[in-house]
Amino acid sequence: VEPALAILGRGVVDVTAPAIRADDLGVQRGDGVFETARVHDGHVFKLGLHLRRLCRSATALALDAPTDDAWRALVAQAVAAGGTNGDGLVKLVCTRGPSTAGPVTAFALAMPMPPEAVRAREHGVDVVTLTLGVTATARTAAAPWLLGGAKTLSYAVNMASLRAAEAQGAQDAIWLAAGGEVLEGPTATVCWVSDGTLHTPPTASGILEGTTLAVVEHLAAPLTFSVTAGTYDDLVNAAELMLVSSVRGVAGVRHIDGKPVGDGRLGEHTTRLRDAFEDAVAGRRAVPGVE
Ligand SMILES: Cc1ncc(COP(=O)(O)O)c(C=O)c1O
Repeated sequence: VEPALAILGRGVVDVTAPAIRADDLGVQRGDGVFETARVHDGHVFKLGLHLRRLCRSATALALDAPTDDAWRALVAQAVAAGGTNGDGLVKLVCTRGPSTAGPVTAFALAMPMPPEAVRAREHGVDVVTLTLGVTATARTAAAPWLLGGAKTLSYAVNMASLRAAEAQGAQDAIWLAAGGEVLEGPTATVCWVSDGTLHTPPTASGILEGTTLAVVEHLAAPLTFSVTAGTYDDLVNAAELMLVSSVRGVAGVRHIDGKPVGDGRLGEHTTRLRDAFEDAVAGRRAVPGVE
């Protein structure tokens, strides 16, 4: 299926129609913000959580982004116009537009589920660790220009990290801070299981606050949930390790830097959380909190 596109101020347009000017600062400089949310049977999963983070990202960039109501209308238009083939995703994109004075360019793009996301969920992934070069304390309110926690369109480093992983025969990566602390994946939050606890790194390290993680936290029991400043050793010694994000859901990690995680197969908590998350997406299971 073809993606379906709805543009702020224009409504639904053919996806092949011109949507972005060549002088748009989103194109020229990656100056903008985005979200990617899961769509199932026309329902956008936890759109409210995505809008909340989008709003925080826009504030970090001093971007005059559309209101939640405007986004909801745009997203509904794109999803109603097709594009997802039942199970898919919707991207919300807002750039600074053709000038620093606005208006912003904003659109919603509904797309089918990428096959590699399904593969990651069903079979797991092998990852390598890569340094991000920053310290775990660099991206704080004292240095707001580093845009810690903001989901910006500047994803060239994220994509280069995935290519570096692929060059080493892996499918994904986990970034470590300059001091070796665990950060996140280029497109996912990291979680690991040890001693009956589900651990994830603190957002104070500048990583994104994951919407999938918020849902996984609700589904964690019987595991205790803990925000833990983990190290490389914690990952290598974990009983289970996962990458979680909106589109892939919960993907188990089989090998890290060539070493098996546990016995190298998807663990019991990984598969349980994966299936529980898919149930939540499909509306078979309620998860409290922002919708
Ligand atoms: C860098 C990064 N961290 C974490 C995530 C996970 O966020 P979410 O669970 O809201 O999709 C993403 C999402 O794509 C991401 O790009």
